[in-house]
Amino acid sequence: MKTQPIFLLAAFLLSFSLYAQEDYVRPNLPSKWRLPSEQPDHIVLNFSDDPATTMSATWRTDTRTKQAFGEVAIATAAPRFWRNGKRVVGTTETMDASRVKSAETKANYHSVTFTGLTPDTLYAYRVGDGEHWSEWIQFRTASEEPEPFSFLYVGDAQNNILDLWSRLIREGYRTAPDARFIIHAGDMVNDAHSELEWHEWFTAGGWIHRTLPSLPLPGNHEYEGYTELEEEQDISHISVQWHPQFTLPQNGPDSLKEQAYYVDYQGTRIIALNSIEMKEKQAEWVDQVLAENPHRWSVVTFHHPLFSASGNRDNDELRELWKPIFDKHQVDIVLQGHDHSYARGRVDPLAENVPDGVNTRDVTGTVYVVSVSGGKMYDVKGDWDDYEATRDRAAENTQLFQLINIDGNTLRYEAYTAVGELYDAFELIKNEEGPNQYVELQNEAIPPFTHENTVPYRLEKSQGN
Ligand SMILES: [Fe+2]
Ligand SMILES: [Fe+2]
Repeated sequence: MKTQPIFLLAAFLLSFSLYAQEDYVRPNLPSKWRLPSEQPDHIVLNFSDDPATTMSATWRTDTRTKQAFGEVAIATAAPRFWRNGKRVVGTTETMDASRVKSAETKANYHSVTFTGLTPDTLYAYRVGDGEHWSEWIQFRTASEEPEPFSFLYVGDAQNNILDLWSRLIREGYRTAPDARFIIHAGDMVNDAHSELEWHEWFTAGGWIHRTLPSLPLPGNHEYEGYTELEEEQDISHISVQWHPQFTLPQNGPDSLKEQAYYVDYQGTRIIALNSIEMKEKQAEWVDQVLAENPHRWSVVTFHHPLFSASGNRDNDELRELWKPIFDKHQVDIVLQGHDHSYARGRVDPLAENVPDGVNTRDVTGTVYVVSVSGGKMYDVKGDWDDYEATRDRAAENTQLFQLINIDGNTLRYEAYTAVGELYDAFELIKNEEGPNQYVELQNEAIPPFTHENTVPYRLEKSQGN
């Protein structure tokens, strides 16, 4: 059929109007899309014990599946490497969230921990019920020595998880395929119990979540009431999926197992905290965990920033409670989320930590970072002068991931945008004693992004703010 010119003109005008529209249309995800089946999905790797000799995997099925197995073998190029592997029986628990608002799902979660692994070795694993299996997925165990390694850290995924966080986390993996794990600093979803949003998170990250262990920690958006009534009464619970779907270290304080924990990885102690509840209790706990840290480096991560990127979102109580502990133990870096913008800076070291003859200006106290990875963006407001801290770098309206490399006495930090531009960089160098040397490297990065020099955010009315 010959197309009439009038139709071509109409099509052109229509396409133009669609392109120019201001309201963003989110994918309309059918609610059934979230539901589990007999085939394992939501597969995620976690450390729950020593990363040199153990690895944990967790996955979801529908409630027909009552058996859980994991198989693991040293990976070789020969496709039947699995003949030298072993099968481990896992555990199964039913999450009955059929009456939990926005979860409305019943699923079985299965988990297995592989133990007795050889350090610094490439393994392949699969999970299933003996009939329905995942693919074979490869991971490397940690070395027992403080060998160099890298890891990724991301702030709030939370909004536009499938449509926009996906490109960010995939760019992170593409930039650092050798990273050993990913820290997710809370607000991984917007609606704590939403099975649909968790399904977005698992779909966006895809096999990255099965390949690089996740170190997740809860943000305020992982807390909500199970029902409308609970919401009205200000009663909230951690995501109903949290404990079933992650298998995390049990070394945290009582009642906060798998919400506050630490992992020792090749000469670095990584401590995750829950900044929503039982903060005093965690202050005591983290004080002890830092005091007993046998390693050279310490990284602490939690959701609510001690130094806010936005002036009206100050968490002064938390800062007064936790900062003296981080100062005392000379924590190297603190990784946070919550403010939906980027801010990176540092505090002065405690005078008593600085050896005689060293000028405080040549060394630094703890570095603090706030970052965002998903689609919701706030303004950066004020600076950190009121908090007796220096903010060295900021960003607005920019999806970022961070890559941190620890190699002997040097910690190199880099922030990258969702399109792979180097946005920020610095190094910390360990001194024999006392605080770290600080090397500013942001001159290697692109100029700062603000709301003024980027694509407008707020025109997208349907997204809210
Ligand atoms: Fe938050
Ligand atoms: Fe958030």
